[in-house]
Parts: sequence; C-alpha cells; structure tokens
Amino acid sequence: MFITFEGIDFSGKSTQIRLLETRLRTNGERVRLVREPGGTEISEKIRSILLDRAHDAMDDVTEFLLFSASRSQLVQEEILPALASGVHVIADRFHDSSTAYQGFGRGLDIEAIKAVHRIATHGLVPDLTFFIDIPVDASFERRSKPDRTIDRMEAADRAFFERIRDGYLRLAEEHAFRFIRIDGMLAVDVIADMIWTAVSNRLSSTDATNATP
Ligand code: TYD
Repeated sequence: MFITFEGIDFSGKSTQIRLLETRLRTNGERVRLVREPGGTEISEKIRSILLDRAHDAMDDVTEFLLFSASRSQLVQEEILPALASGVHVIADRFHDSSTAYQGFGRGLDIEAIKAVHRIATHGLVPDLTFFIDIPVDASFERRSKPDRTIDRMEAADRAFFERIRDGYLRLAEEHAFRFIRIDGMLAVDVIADMIWTAVSNRLSSTDATNATP
C-alpha cells in the first residue's frame, strides 16, 4: 500500500508518520518511509537547492520542475521497487504538495501541473492520502518556536499558505476516495487512532480482495 501525508508546514505530519510506522510494524507489516523532496542521493541534492534561503531568485516554474525531478527519481529508485517487493511505503508529501504549493500557492496552471505529474510519478497514485489540516494561524504560531529554523519555502507569507490550504481542501473534495482530511488541532493520539482505523480498514479490504477463494 502506498500512503501519503499532506498538509501545510508544521501540521504535525512527521509525528503521525512515525506513529503509523510503529503501528504497522507492530502489526507485522514491512514499511519504508520516504520524504519529499529527497529520499535518494540525487533527490537530496535537489532538496538542498530547493530549500536554500540564498535561492530567493528561484523562478516558480524552476521550483516546480525541481520538485518533480526529485519525485521522479524517488519513485523509480525507491518507491516502485519497495511496493513491488510487498513493502508498504509512507511518503511525507507527494505530488499533491506540488498541486497545492506550486499550483494553488504560486499560481501555476493546474492542468499543466497535472500533465507533468503523470510523467514524474510514473503513473503511481497513492492508495490513501492523509491531509492533516491546521489553520494557517496555528502553523505560524508553531513556527515561531525558538528551536525552529525556517527554510526558503517556509519563509513565504500567510496569503501563500491560505491559498495552499484552500488548494488542499479542493483536492480532498476532488479525490474523495483516497483523501482523508483530518483535523490537525485534535490531540496527537486521537489523530493517530483515526489514521490507524483508516489504514487497517484499507489493509483488511485489500487482504480480502487478494485472498484466493
Ligand atoms: P520540509 O522541511 O520537508 O517540510 P515539511 O516537514 O513541512 O514537509 O520542506 C519541504 C517544503 O517544500 C515544504 O515547505 C513544502 C514544500 N513543497 C512544495 O512546495 N512542493 C512540493 O512538491 C513538495 C514535495 C514540497
């Protein structure tokens, strides 16, 4: 199963990914975690170009194509081989991030973005996508904690993150079968339980489909 996590910055995705990983492993499942941008030697190099605060002059299309390039490498080198060997893959962001950030956030043409997704994902679509939804104000409150360093993407203004959040809400409606919106202001363990319920339901229905009669 291929599971992705989405949301605006500081939504708490990483915590939930670790909790889901533990639960899956406890359940005897094999799991691989990946993050975007990054996850392979080439993709991590692209990540450092993308997030470097010195790169203020980066053009929006360049930004989008670099995220897509990083994704393509990750899909080919890591995700597809893992899925083929029966390992579940959990991705911290995938193509919906580009639709939300570069499409709705930066204003690039959504149809053009979708065309590039088809190439960059090699046709791979997540089975389940958790959208951890927090208000933009909460994101800004969390980022102001002293131990946080801010990267180039996070340095954008509130209006940018409002557009991204609206974009995610639109995506969740459009792809209701795989998208699950979760209120990210709920307690960590409550969110973890909701995620686990959805994943275990999907796992048992997949097992039932694959079972030989
Ligand atoms: P990261 O530090 O991994 O943030 P997070 O923990 O919130 O995922 O940085 C990734 C940043 O890149 C984040 O601000 C979201 C942004 N991003 C895009 O703009 N487009 C994309 O396609 C992806 C994958 C990420």
